[in-house]
Amino acid sequence: MRSVLRGCGSYLPARILTNAELAAKVDTNDEWIVQRTGIRARHIAADDETTGTLGLKAAKAALADAGIPASEVDLIIVATATPDHTFPATATEIQAALDITQGAAFDLQAVCSGFVFALATADKFLTSGAAKTALVIGAETFSRILDWEDRATCVLFGDGAGAVVLRAEEGEGTLADRGVLTTHIRSDGRYMNKLYVDGGPGSTKTVGFLRMEGREVFKHAVVNLADTVRHTFEETGLTGADIDWFVPHQANRRIIDATAHKLGIDEDRVVVTVDKHGNTSAASIPLALAQAHMDGRIKPGQLVLIEAMGGGFTWGSALIRW
Ligand code: ACO
Repeated sequence: MRSVLRGCGSYLPARILTNAELAAKVDTNDEWIVQRTGIRARHIAADDETTGTLGLKAAKAALADAGIPASEVDLIIVATATPDHTFPATATEIQAALDITQGAAFDLQAVCSGFVFALATADKFLTSGAAKTALVIGAETFSRILDWEDRATCVLFGDGAGAVVLRAEEGEGTLADRGVLTTHIRSDGRYMNKLYVDGGPGSTKTVGFLRMEGREVFKHAVVNLADTVRHTFEETGLTGADIDWFVPHQANRRIIDATAHKLGIDEDRVVVTVDKHGNTSAASIPLALAQAHMDGRIKPGQLVLIEAMGGGFTWGSALIRW
């Protein structure tokens, strides 16, 4: 069995916050942000929007793109580090809003690697026969856990959501099959204090704010991302030259460029959207996938490589034939 990607969709809140607007609030400037990160703007959720409402809009767009009714979905995984409530899961909110009363819905927490972890998890359910049609959603409202006085972090993140619909279909068991071909996920909790939120229900009883040692994260990101993709290449016998589209986590243009270079993937096969919405954590890969799918860059039958790294540290990659 293969988890075949049948559709994708995304949603960005209407409010756009530019670098110039941020420079009026904290001691920063457009040139510094663009040069160090490639980010020009980010979207900010309105007061009446939540991670759940963002995720729901992306899910509806993905289902419409797939032409699959919500009633056929029997697995929903929402990758998020900014759930609407401590419990229940944002996934169950979205399940109810879609009028789905079958199967299971749960959240998955791997921060910026969340979408890759959720895709890998859904793939195990679908290929084992435990579910038939899955919605995998990455949705975040990072604007609500940012310290807006900390210029080192508040310029980097934004809100948004993306989703894909996966369906279990029979394949031949070769790399020519459509669908998820291989996934690799990793974590190493020794680095948790390099990128974390300084609150939580089990510790401070508060939500907390994002804290990060940017330089340390950068260093580990390039090494870990290249490492996880190397496993994909070793397992499949493929190289960077075989990849039609590289769709990395959209955190920082310099991390994306350095990783693509290390993997031998040409710049014109890299999908970059970080300039438009900053780092949207678990939402960034499905946002970029939806963009490249909608504008016709990714075509059926092509090989798409995704990868991400985030707090924990967590990191991972997946190879998909579109
Ligand atoms: N505007 C202007 N100056 C700033 C800003 C800002 N927004 N933020 C920091 N600075 C200053 C610092 O105070 C420092 O000043 P100093 O030299 O007087 O002390 C100077 O800029 C350099 O700071 P560094 O942190 O060393 O800058 P660096 O070149 O490492 O860039 C950055 C910082 C962009 C955060 C980089 O380290 C990075 O991209 N790290 C990866 C972080 C990331 O992407 N995290 C997302 C989650 S993990 C992931 O998704 C991969």
